[in-house]
This record gives sequence, C-alpha cells and structure tokens, in this order.
Amino acid sequence: MAQNLLVLGLQWGDEGKGKVIDALSSGFDIIVRFQGGANAGHTVHVGQEKFVLHLLPSGILRPGKLCVIGNGVVADPECLLEEIEALRGRSIQVSPDNLAVSDRAHVVMPYHKLLDGLQEAALGKGRIGTTRRGIGPCYADQAARLGLRFAELVQPERLERRLRALIEMKNREVTLLYGAEPLDADKVCAQYREYGERLRPYVRDTVALLSEAVRRGRSILLEGAQGTLLDVNFGTYPYVTSSNVTAGGAAVGSGIPPTRIDRVLGVVKAYCTRVGDGPFPTEQDNETGRLLRERGHEYGATTGRPRRCGWLDAVALRHAVAINGVTSIALMLTDVLSALKTIKACTAYELDGRRVADFPADAEVLARVRPVYEEFPGWQSDISPVRLIDDLPRAARDYVAAVERIAGAPVQMVSVGPERDQIARRRADA
Ligand code: IMP
Repeated sequence: MAQNLLVLGLQWGDEGKGKVIDALSSGFDIIVRFQGGANAGHTVHVGQEKFVLHLLPSGILRPGKLCVIGNGVVADPECLLEEIEALRGRSIQVSPDNLAVSDRAHVVMPYHKLLDGLQEAALGKGRIGTTRRGIGPCYADQAARLGLRFAELVQPERLERRLRALIEMKNREVTLLYGAEPLDADKVCAQYREYGERLRPYVRDTVALLSEAVRRGRSILLEGAQGTLLDVNFGTYPYVTSSNVTAGGAAVGSGIPPTRIDRVLGVVKAYCTRVGDGPFPTEQDNETGRLLRERGHEYGATTGRPRRCGWLDAVALRHAVAINGVTSIALMLTDVLSALKTIKACTAYELDGRRVADFPADAEVLARVRPVYEEFPGWQSDISPVRLIDDLPRAARDYVAAVERIAGAPVQMVSVGPERDQIARRRADA
C-alpha cells in the first residue's frame, strides 16, 4: 500500500517546508494543503527562478501532480486567482486537471481582512503581529457558523443572498465598534460573483476525492503551513495563527483519516526565527541575529517583514516532536551557520532559578524563562556542494547528531543551500 507523508514545520514557520515538499513531491501522486491561507509564503528555487507560493501547494511546480486545497484552508479567491495567473504567465500549467479546491474550504472576504487590521490596531501593544490576510476573522466565522464556503461561492444566487446578509452584519461591527468605513455590498457581491465564476471549475468535493484516492492506494503528501509553535492549541497562544497547524490538523483539514497518515517529517531550521510578536526565548537581538538574518535572507515571503532570529530551541523542539509524532527530520538552512565560530542551542529553560523541562503553556511565563545553552564548534567551511550527510565536515555532523539526540528523531535530510538540489541525504536514501 502507498505510504502517505505529512510534512510540517516544528518551529514558528519559515523552516523551509516549500523546498522539502518540492524535493519530495516527485514521489507522490497528490499534494494537499490542509490549513492556513495566504498568510503562508513557501519559497521554492528552480534553477535561476524563484517561486513564492501562498495558497497553491508547492507540488504545483511538478507536472503531472494533483494539488488539493483542502477543507481546512481559508482561501482568498483574489489571491488564489492571482497566483494561478502568475504561474500560467511563467508557463506552469494550472488547470482543473491538476488543481482541486475543496467545496468545504472557507472563503476569505474583504471584511475579514479589514477586521484583521482593525483588531490589531485596537490591541495596540498587545497585538499579535498578524499578516493581515484575514485569517483569524475567517476561522472565527467558521467556528461561529457565519462562514461562507466555496460551495456557496460558486452558486451566484445563494452567494448574493448570504453575502448581503453577512456584509450587513459585518458593517455594523466595522462602523459601530471600530468607527471605520463600511464596505460597499454591491461592489463586494459583484466582485465575488466574478471570482466564483472563474473558480467554479476547480471547486470539488475533495473529501470524497481523497477518500477514493486513499482507497485506491494513491500516494499522498500533506503539506503543512506555518509551524507548530503557531498552532492555535499548542503554540504560544495568543501569539499564534488561527488554524491547527499540527499533525491532528492534517486529518481535520483534509478528511484523510489519521490512521492513513503513515509518516511525519518535521522541518526544522538549524537555528530559529519568528515573525510577528510574542515570546521567543532564544532570540538574538544583536550581531549574531543580524548575521543570521542577512545570511539566511530572513525576510517574510508574504509581508517582507524582517524575521527575528535566534538559536535553536530544544525545549520547543521536543514539544513539537511529541505533539506531531515526528518520524524524521529535515534540517534546513544549515549552510547559514557555516560562517560561525561557535553555534549554540538552548537545551533547557530556567525560571526563577529552577529548571523547566516542559514547554510552558503561558506566553507570559515563556517570555520570562532564561535559556540554558550548549555550545558547539562551527565548521567554518562551505558545505553547499555536499550531497551526503556522511560527507559533511565533522563539526556539522556533530551538530546534526546533537539535533537528533535533542529531538529524539533521525535527521533524514540536511539542506545546504537554497537551490532545489542543494540537499545532503543519508546514503541509503541518496
Ligand atoms: P496570521 O496567521 O496572519 O493571523 O498571523 C498570526 C501570527 O502567525 C503572526 O505572528 C504571523 O507573523 C504568524 N504567521 C502567519 N503565517 C506565517 C508564516 O507562513 N510564516 C511565519 N509566520 C507566520
């Protein structure tokens, strides 16, 4: 029977999942996104070309693969259409033959984006630092049963009826609560009718499609967005995104049963980054952080914001490995560390003079912990041509072994540069 694989981030997102998925997708029939929306930004380098994908699964760059936007995604139709057109303009085929959008996926509306910005402004210093893509308000509407799904988007009369009622409600919130300008219902309805017309050919019952695919033994790769520490349940709440980023979310957001997710590949950056606000115990707001940012090109793929940079955090990593049932690890951006004489990793926290073994639930507690570091010698050489983990310099192999020890899971691949082929693998997999 085909083995299905889940690939997800074990930190605060931006771990390099796009590259891992691109490297692995050739071995799968179907690639599925199951959560998040256009807040994600997956960067893939193919030859001299760079692709940044927000909603489309990274597998779209491989001909002959079926890509699915699952029921757990909140999709902005404007962004989706723009992405489809942009890829077509670069001679990448996107058609209903290789892209299906779930009829159960929720539609991001202009009022979601507007409210995202208004709520952030109202929070002031306590803001989340969202991408302002309307993600939180859209998931909130799903839970409040006020959402509009793709099944409705593609039925013009039903869309008009529901959308007018929803805009009236949301306009009251926008004007009375926030004192902002209301949305023009006629304009929004006309615009979304047009999006519905254009997207109709892609909208399908992807739950039935994927059930049938599982039954027929087709191989499926589930593509996570964001990272475990941004999960709405297990992350640094409230400084999180609004979806279930973790392994349980893959089943909920796709309809693929948990018993048919055979392996979980956790993607980890060799150091750590975070965009947006919230605690980050190993943050290096200093020369080291700046060096990591410049060498790692650590600027948001979606918003262009500079990412906060710091050392690998083993306490957070163990939490992520446990929650997701990680079976192996991809260690990314390892070449970024090549310039360093000494590399640090946080192996424990201290709080008020006491060791803390578990990742705290409370963001205010996490903000107060003091990281305890282990130091590793750097390798200070160019590792970008290396293709076997065994051929890495001794110090780099020792760092990889330390990550395995810390995480309690084997490192299956080590990224040594941004290009598609710059990956070192285990001899057995190469
Ligand atoms: P939202 O998902 O736009 O609501 O943002 C909530 C938090 O998640 C903010 O800290 C964002 O910076 C962060 N976030 C959302 N998507 C990503 C991503 O793809 N990579 C990294 N951080 C993200």
